[in-house]
Amino acid sequence: MSEKFIPLTDYRQREQQLMVPSRLVEPDGQLLDSLQRPLHDLRISVTDRCNFRCVYCMPKEVFDKDYRFLPQTSLLSFEEITRIARIFIAHGVGKIRLTGGEPLLRKNIEKLIEMLSNLRTANGDNIDLTLTTNGSLLARKAQSLKDAGLSRVTVSLDSMNDATFKQMNDVDFPVSDVLDGIDAAHRAGLGPIKVNMVVKAGLNDGEIIPMARYFKGTPHILRYIEYMDVGASNGWQLNEVIPSAELIKKLNQAGLSLLPVQANYAGETAERWRYADGSGEIGVISSVTQTFCHECSRARLSTEGKLYTCLFATHGHDLRSLLRDEHNAYSDLAIANVLAQLWRQRSDRYSELRSQQTEELMSSRKKIEMSYIGG
Ligand code: GTP
Ligand code: 5AD
Ligand code: SF4
Ligand code: SF4
Repeated sequence: MSEKFIPLTDYRQREQQLMVPSRLVEPDGQLLDSLQRPLHDLRISVTDRCNFRCVYCMPKEVFDKDYRFLPQTSLLSFEEITRIARIFIAHGVGKIRLTGGEPLLRKNIEKLIEMLSNLRTANGDNIDLTLTTNGSLLARKAQSLKDAGLSRVTVSLDSMNDATFKQMNDVDFPVSDVLDGIDAAHRAGLGPIKVNMVVKAGLNDGEIIPMARYFKGTPHILRYIEYMDVGASNGWQLNEVIPSAELIKKLNQAGLSLLPVQANYAGETAERWRYADGSGEIGVISSVTQTFCHECSRARLSTEGKLYTCLFATHGHDLRSLLRDEHNAYSDLAIANVLAQLWRQRSDRYSELRSQQTEELMSSRKKIEMSYIGG
């Protein structure tokens, strides 16, 4: 492969002092950031480890046997995660996605799911509790995840072709095991299942049509993702991105006629399409060519409890220091007010700026890794 790797600097350690406002106000679920975007979606990374080494995410050259993953003591406990999640929900979060690394590698993940699924919004509604997985452990775990209270799953799968898939996951993992995982999730009632395919030109663009053909006629929703410049280790180049508009054209030309569908909710990452013959739905996620920052309502919590207000953020806010304060000085209300303050200050819109600005800006930023914060 002709990948170019940029040396990785560990920017996870950078600290910033959090301040508790002097006047504490109860959360009312109506929080807006500085660009008037609400807080609806919390993505929690439960481990920074993964059993795959996808070339665009955790290249082996960087994530090798000497790579320093977070020690066990750094990880937020299930109690800590649930406490933080409850505070986010009070601020208006209705959807929680567990990510990684590979979230199913976290020991007793079912216990965490059970704890989170018992949380309710201010109106008494259930949380939309979901998880993004590489599918490798799904065949074994689908039923226990469902029993624990998981609403649905999203499975990452980049190819139907074993050779290409193995080249991408770089650990010789076969497609058939992921497909078995998807079937098991379907049988367990973890649908609608979304299948995420990152498309990288020259690597798996030949798989666009075969993937569509495989999932057409199933209840699963295949979503094509434009390859993004996340992190610092994937050596991203603009000419490796297949624009979604081009991809839709390609599908239509192959006789897979598509019609647009209305978004499910404001700020949805995917643009929805359905087959004209009624045989299912697909989506395209155009994080590069058609950015969706203007409606981004997503907050991200890292494995060791840092809040990131953008996937491309260069630093996080250390909420764990409040949770683990030795004098137990921070009440839920105090933490809720710290969060409110951080969200109100939020002005991130990296993808939008990237489209407007030069490549120079992109290469000068020291971004966090996708495997650290999850998709
Ligand atoms: P649904 O709740 O099923 O709609 O899921 P989702 O699309 O919000 O989440 P998912 O994790 O499936 O996101 C799919 C892909 O979209 C990720 O793997 C990323 O590539 C991309 N993505 C998700 N959120 C963001 C974001 O906030 N910014 C950018 N630039 N890309 C994102
Ligand atoms: N661009 C787009 N999506 C990515 N993912 C990981 N790295 C990238 C990237 N560079 C996606 C994976 C998976 C989720 C965890 O993040 O496909 O769906
Ligand atoms: Fe691949 Fe997901 Fe693991 Fe990254 S976190 S290496 S995209 S399976
Ligand atoms: Fe949200 Fe940042 Fe992604 Fe824009 S780039 S959609 S602000 S996470």
